[in-house]
Amino acid sequence: MCGIIGFAGKTEAVEVLLDGLERLEYRGYDSAGVAVVSTDGKLQVKKSKGRLSVLRTLLEAEEPMSGGIGIGHTRWATHGEPNDVNAHPHVGQEGKIAVVHNGIIENYLEIKNSLIRKGIRFSSDTDTEVIVQLLEYYYKKYSNLMDAVYAVLNRIKGAYAMGILCSDYPEQMLAARKDAPLLIGYGEEGNYIASDVTALLSHTRTVTYMEDDEVAVITAGKVEIYDSDRTLLEKEKHAIEWDVTAAEKGGYAHFMLKEIMEQPEAVRKTISPRIVDGKIVLEELKGTGDFIRNVSRIYIVACGSAYHVGMVGKYTLEKLLHIPVEACLASEFRYSEPLLGESTLVIVISQSGETLDSLAALREAKRRGSKVLSIVNVMGSSIARESDYVLYTWAGPEIAVATTKAYTTQMVLLIMLGVYLARELEQIGQEEYDAIVEGLLRLPEQIKQVLNELDNYQKIASRYFNHNSVFYIGRNLDYALGLEGSLKLKEISYIHSESYAAGELKHGTISLIEPGTLVVALATYAPLVEKSLSNIVEVKSRGAEVIALTTDKTVNTISSQTSEMFVIPEVQAILQPVLGVIPLQLFAYYIALNRGCDIDKPRNLAKSVTVE
Ligand code: M6R
Repeated sequence: MCGIIGFAGKTEAVEVLLDGLERLEYRGYDSAGVAVVSTDGKLQVKKSKGRLSVLRTLLEAEEPMSGGIGIGHTRWATHGEPNDVNAHPHVGQEGKIAVVHNGIIENYLEIKNSLIRKGIRFSSDTDTEVIVQLLEYYYKKYSNLMDAVYAVLNRIKGAYAMGILCSDYPEQMLAARKDAPLLIGYGEEGNYIASDVTALLSHTRTVTYMEDDEVAVITAGKVEIYDSDRTLLEKEKHAIEWDVTAAEKGGYAHFMLKEIMEQPEAVRKTISPRIVDGKIVLEELKGTGDFIRNVSRIYIVACGSAYHVGMVGKYTLEKLLHIPVEACLASEFRYSEPLLGESTLVIVISQSGETLDSLAALREAKRRGSKVLSIVNVMGSSIARESDYVLYTWAGPEIAVATTKAYTTQMVLLIMLGVYLARELEQIGQEEYDAIVEGLLRLPEQIKQVLNELDNYQKIASRYFNHNSVFYIGRNLDYALGLEGSLKLKEISYIHSESYAAGELKHGTISLIEPGTLVVALATYAPLVEKSLSNIVEVKSRGAEVIALTTDKTVNTISSQTSEMFVIPEVQAILQPVLGVIPLQLFAYYIALNRGCDIDKPRNLAKSVTVE
């Protein structure tokens, strides 16, 4: 979704801003803009609909912007269509103040109408413009920028991360946040604000996370952060471990392919520090034994692919722990009546740690007395900070909109959590436990083995990329895996695709199977392979073309029905989806490549969904 970068420094700001915006492109956007204030107080703004290249061309065609203080924005339209006027930064009618904003101002219409009645003219359809017009209104009234900022923050309702420039204060930028991420970076050339740490990695890895209701005053040499009472705060600085190359393509055609290929390492980093002397050690859960023994129900709450990990978790944790485990879509969970309370554990899964629905579900769970354990990739993100316990996936930055390495690392961590809890609750025998631990340690090498089959995935994709509808079918863990395979395909290739529990086909969906329909049949879950085979026969006998995903142990059974196959090594049933997802990711990738799609930035999608 929208991205913010800001710089207060000793060098020209505009290049820093453009570099930051490029690094934020992956979040998804439809317009971009920058504002810079010169030392003599001239506020310069350039913005345009479309990709950053359009903005660059616009900037090159005119007199260079000069000044060391600036803010930049990539906008993903919510209020008002994507066009030049609705792009950020927005400037007040006096031309003194510029604002970039992420989030949604819920009471913008009421404020807008009251300002219009006072004679203020609006030029855009955005909710953001009310912030800047209101700021100018209060600035005129109080003649003090901080007074005006606090007056605005008291008046607006909703979510915001914002950067503010004022031509009367050419040496500083201001920042404020509530329910939308914003961090401050400390660099040698100056100080920064950003909505996402990847925008800062080439400049600094020392950051402070802004909390709700805080306001920051940032100059080239100093950062001051105040709370809602205007008390100056002592904030902790954090060192980011990710390095800049992790957020670059490094010779790959797409971030998605790079991130798929990084999975052995990401999985290894997530697993191996947590296995000590043959035991799963989750330091993060130290001292929680009493609570764990009391847990009588688990909800796994997430969105999109993270929810699909939750579906894998539902089958796995229920089997391991013998307590009810439900996987819930966060957007539904928050408005339903989940059975929350002290003995319910809510597990929230999120790569970004900023998905609004997941965050809202977390807050609801806590409000109703449940403990929340989150599985998160981005350190210091809102979900991580608000959870009772956090397990970090060590996937590194994930740039492609379609998640791959975050999905696999979330899955291994959830499986590890399940096995850890099973041991704490004495629900797992030593032999089974040891075998799973050994299996976990072997996974990175086995993922490499699956990745070695690139030619096969590419060849099969090149035969089917013209299909316009695909069905994924599977049972149990294969069903959960099919959900992810299907989402990967539709989001990057724009092919209509559905995923079904194979046993459900006969209850309706099979009427859609006709000669030539493509079915991806998942048959890796050993206990149900025979049943999956029957489902393959059913769709084949109605003319479907079938690609099967199976293991080296069951390949002979499945090959009687189809010769198009992705074959992966057989491992313990609960670990099988970790390997199974890899061919599905690559199949989707190569299909999208053949169709000439914008793989890393699919249409209409954003990497991190911070609005409802
Ligand atoms: O950052 P999160 O893991 O909370 O994001 C949740 C979903 O938006 C995300 O998994 C989405 O479905 C993926 N981009 C799909 O590839």
